[in-house]
Amino acid sequence: MITFDQVHFYYQKGQVILEDLSFTIGAGEFVAIAGANGCGKSTIAKLMDGLLLPKKGKVTFKELDTAKPTELEAIHEGVGFIFQNPEDQFITTTVMDEVIFGLENIRLPREEIGRRLDYSLQAVQMDHCREAQPHLLSGGQKQRVAIAAVLAMQPQAMIFDEATSMLDPEGRKQVLGIMHDLHRQGMTVIHITHHMEEVLEAGRMLLMDQGRLAYDGDPLTFFDTMNAADYQLGLPFAVRLHRMLQPGTPLTGDWKEMIRRQWSGS
Ligand SMILES: Nc1ncnc2c1ncn2[C@@H]1O[C@H](COP(=O)(O)OP(=O)(O)OP(=O)(O)O)[C@@H](O)[C@H]1O
Ligand SMILES: [Mg+2]
Repeated sequence: MITFDQVHFYYQKGQVILEDLSFTIGAGEFVAIAGANGCGKSTIAKLMDGLLLPKKGKVTFKELDTAKPTELEAIHEGVGFIFQNPEDQFITTTVMDEVIFGLENIRLPREEIGRRLDYSLQAVQMDHCREAQPHLLSGGQKQRVAIAAVLAMQPQAMIFDEATSMLDPEGRKQVLGIMHDLHRQGMTVIHITHHMEEVLEAGRMLLMDQGRLAYDGDPLTFFDTMNAADYQLGLPFAVRLHRMLQPGTPLTGDWKEMIRRQWSGS
């Protein structure tokens, strides 16, 4: 669904931000992007959405090429973006208007706007706050409204760029729960995060290091077989616990299953 084909990127000549980066994210995947501060995660997100263009190589969303101006609108429609600070995304004065704003912009019929408003506020459990002023909500609620506004546009993929990093534990839990709900319903989710517990919950981990892809695969296998500290990453609690209880042994099937079940909440 989203493909990077030998992508090179820099902001200023002489800089190397991304070097020969290639990967494909399939429809319906839940992918975490991890890596140290400044390694290029947000840059990748902006390239996915066509907000930035590669200097060399190609970024495509389905058959659409971000470098073709005529295809950009369809790409923006297909790829939703949730930022770190929900305040940056608010334009209007009520929760309802916030969700409706984009829909009116694309001139949808009134009934369709009503349907999408109901659906997206229900999906983030904010239906009871329609008249509330977004800036008075809690951090988690703000982020849920921001998600509703994006959902109402019916994107096929959603990028969350550190969308949980400013939230308290409860707010984070709510937003993560919504991300996983959306994923279960078929949404392609790209989750950029510094939280290794959250990386563990993803089906796939892309790890960036010095402009290159250092790892692409199952998150548990990464923590089990590679040295996370080499990439300025911590270890998830479950992996630390395993190392304390069974030092020197690899994560076996039983442990993997237990850790997975812990995070999936089932
Ligand atoms: N507009 C810009 N002009 C010049 N350099 C930039 C610009 N935006 C980002 N950079 C640089 O590009 C590199 C990658 O930035 P990016 O924001 O993609 O990293 P990141 O992995 O998202 O970091 P963080 O974890 O801190 O969010 C950094 O060295 C950053 O300083
Ligand atoms: Mg960033």
